[in-house]
Amino acid sequence: MIQTTRGARLVTQHPHLMKNYGRLEINVVRGEGCWLYDESGNAYLDMVAGIAVCALGHAHPRIARAIADQAATLVHVSNLVHHEPAGTLADKLAELSGFDAVFFCNSGAEANEAAIKLARKHAFRNGEPNRTTILAAHGAFHGRTMGALAATDNPAYKEGFEPLPGGFEHVAFNDVAALDAAIDGMTACFLVEPVQGESGVVPATKEFLEAARRLCDERGALLIFDEVQCGMGRLGRLFAHQWYGVTPDAFTLAKSLANGLPIGALVVRGEPAGSLRPGDHGTTFGGSPVPAAAALEHLKIRDVIDFDEHVETVGDLLRGELAAVANDFPAVFDQPRGIGLLLGLPVRAGWKAADFVQRGLDQGLFINAAGRNTLRFVPPLIITADEVRDAMQRLRATIASVLTG
Ligand SMILES: Cc1ncc(COP(=O)(O)O)c(C=O)c1O
Repeated sequence: MIQTTRGARLVTQHPHLMKNYGRLEINVVRGEGCWLYDESGNAYLDMVAGIAVCALGHAHPRIARAIADQAATLVHVSNLVHHEPAGTLADKLAELSGFDAVFFCNSGAEANEAAIKLARKHAFRNGEPNRTTILAAHGAFHGRTMGALAATDNPAYKEGFEPLPGGFEHVAFNDVAALDAAIDGMTACFLVEPVQGESGVVPATKEFLEAARRLCDERGALLIFDEVQCGMGRLGRLFAHQWYGVTPDAFTLAKSLANGLPIGALVVRGEPAGSLRPGDHGTTFGGSPVPAAAALEHLKIRDVIDFDEHVETVGDLLRGELAAVANDFPAVFDQPRGIGLLLGLPVRAGWKAADFVQRGLDQGLFINAAGRNTLRFVPPLIITADEVRDAMQRLRATIASVLTG
């Protein structure tokens, strides 16, 4: 039992859950829209959305119905056969992106694993078996599986897990000259997040991504965007590359694609789309009917609601409010960073982002820390202007509570 200024918070401990997460002392039992509820019935305004996952909020009735209907029809059949939900979802993603082929898996890390394998197989099939280098950026986060981890640039995540697969290199993010020096005839692909999320919400410059496109074209490398966190409408366009106006050869999706059900996707255009042939790659659950049905329903809802304008409007509001917080507490925060509803508020040295996260719970606010010391704001995309203002009041109360000890 935890006593807070807003009453008691029950926390049931589960000693057999592996201790690989630093979980907050809260048991969430229910969600609705942008709100979460704990075991004691306390409400929390959710600025995390399951880490940029629940774009349409919690318990969206149409998503819930799509899941229930599909579960009552066909839950799993494997990729030994065709089935409607994955096929229709692939067609829909192709239609919305203008890309040609989609591989489905179950997570962001798996989507990036598939991207890495596709880049190497593409070079191999083109008679360039030595073109094997996977180039990624400093500060990158691409997932925790061994290949995705090798592409990730965070020593803390790698410690004790080496040796990781070889052939991975890193280049300075947003440094065109460094990229020019790094991409060569050995580069299979440049894998990059248009907005780095986990390292503290750091957007790529348009100039950097445009240079990446030009250099990859000139030197025969694939350009692959990791849109696992910044895709699916979070920047104010369905796909992050559409926001930047730079078209990669392939991009990965996961997180909010199915609004909370596990699914990942690698979306590819042009000749590389044919690089993976029967037997080259696969996964039992990839694109299985229930997550695929949820993702399809998500995209159908987006067909009739203009989320882009909404994300831009509430994103501007949230960014403005965060800037006001930074101006009011210049010793504690730097100016906010990010695009749309993927925003970060950097916390200055001497203060710990994690303290604000913890105290936020006492104020009915759920926020999250990313990177070295940044508060990350990735609410459901359906968040209203009033909810943004409410969240900022709770943030100010949280700050007051941290500052007074
Ligand atoms: C940009 C990016 N890529 C990959 C991943 C890994 O996704 P998952 O946790 O679904 O494996 C994440 C997760 O945070 C991410 O933000």
